[in-house]
Amino acid sequence: MAVIADRCPHIQVTVVDLNAARIAAWNDPDLSKLPVYEPGLDAVVGRCRGRNLHFSTAVEPAIAAADMVFLSVNTPTKTKGVGAGQASDLRWIEASARQVAACAQGHTIVVEKSTLPVRTAATIKAILGAAQGDAAQAGEAKSFSVLSNPEFLAEGTAITDLEHPDRVLIGGEDPAAIEALAAIYGAWVPADRILRTNLWSSELSKLTANCFLAQRISSINAIAAVCEATGADVQEVARAIGADSRIGAKFLKAGPGFGGSCFQKDVLNLVYLCGHYGLHEVAAYWQSVVALNDWQQHRIARLVVQRLFGTVTGKRIAVLGFAFKADTNDTREAPAIRICRDLLEEGAQLAIYDPKVSEAQMATDLAQEPQPAPAGNGLSGEGVWQLAASAEAAATGADAVLILTEWRQFAELDWPGLAALMRHPAWLFDARAIADAEAAAAAGLNLWTVGRG
Ligand code: UGA
Repeated sequence: MAVIADRCPHIQVTVVDLNAARIAAWNDPDLSKLPVYEPGLDAVVGRCRGRNLHFSTAVEPAIAAADMVFLSVNTPTKTKGVGAGQASDLRWIEASARQVAACAQGHTIVVEKSTLPVRTAATIKAILGAAQGDAAQAGEAKSFSVLSNPEFLAEGTAITDLEHPDRVLIGGEDPAAIEALAAIYGAWVPADRILRTNLWSSELSKLTANCFLAQRISSINAIAAVCEATGADVQEVARAIGADSRIGAKFLKAGPGFGGSCFQKDVLNLVYLCGHYGLHEVAAYWQSVVALNDWQQHRIARLVVQRLFGTVTGKRIAVLGFAFKADTNDTREAPAIRICRDLLEEGAQLAIYDPKVSEAQMATDLAQEPQPAPAGNGLSGEGVWQLAASAEAAATGADAVLILTEWRQFAELDWPGLAALMRHPAWLFDARAIADAEAAAAAGLNLWTVGRG
């Protein structure tokens, strides 16, 4: 919405949320305090806020005044009830649709921005249609058009992705509504990149795009394990296969498994959809993408334990990176969560450093408060973790450094300096293949790099 406001100064954009603390943070005069860390976002918000970009908790008047409403609420995987563990929880999208139905005035275009299961638009249309009927009976003018306009930005590169999208996708049935939305994007997106489809193709394309991307990561992570076993190098394999223009070079980085709020949720969503339509083989095919991802995360934790002589109890391990990828403070489904939990279960003492993730967030994710290492050798101790203020602080006294997020600064670590701070024999486990392996080896560290045999 900030980028739309930036590129379309003639449009007034109001972002509303029930969460007053969050809206207050979006209105904070100090742009470094915005609730989302995203490179370049502060500058965009700084340019538009108060001009044609507004953040407010006054939901109802904003809906009433709007010509177009974007539904951008979260749709996490259900944790209980029908479809638990796979289906999306649609309670917020339905509540939002009902609120729009109640408050809208005149003709309103309602745009699904949240990633939704296929045919959710039908639910939204049914709710809005009922309100339209009630209004007509009462002699009020109220009507709706529903569009699907899924988002393809990735975190960490969101602003560039929005400013130069590969494509914008608009699904719908009402040509006037489709063109109204296309005109907004047309202010900065070339016309041939604005694709128009029917509603269901649009919804399914979003799920499919994420499933294909997730599948690529599971595929390369599977090959990484084969590389480690055979003496091949996954980076060389990725370069060789990526040179084939049919395969392409992007999204072929082996790592600790994909994280983020979308990939797992969307693959599971497709699995659920396939199950619903009796397509059990298709469901099993996509389920295996998530299964491989789970395996990769547990494999890394297991491998750390095995290399450290079969036990990490009482050992200090420096964990570098907690966010699910670089350039974000987002930890949703971060591989670090499962890997750290596995190591804590084994009794490790973790010193975790991430340039952007807070201690409170780590505590929530690990379901355990930070705690200093117990006195003595820790051999009878439970697994504990502490926040470290830097990579050096984390590595001090550690038996191993484990890199889990590809923050740029981890490519530039001073290995002789770090090695001197560690207990020997010492290890580097590089799950992102980002560290200077030669320098680490020369500094006397034992080395494991994902996908390198
Ligand atoms: C992803 C998609 O890339 C976006 O197109 C989509 O809009 C978004 O989900 C969404 O549905 O909201 P995002 O999750 O922000 O974006 O980040 P990605 O760059 O896709 O990374 C996802 C995970 O895959 C990260 O944990 C990342 O480290 C991992 N990854 C990515 C790899 O392990 N290897 C790669 O080569 C690429």
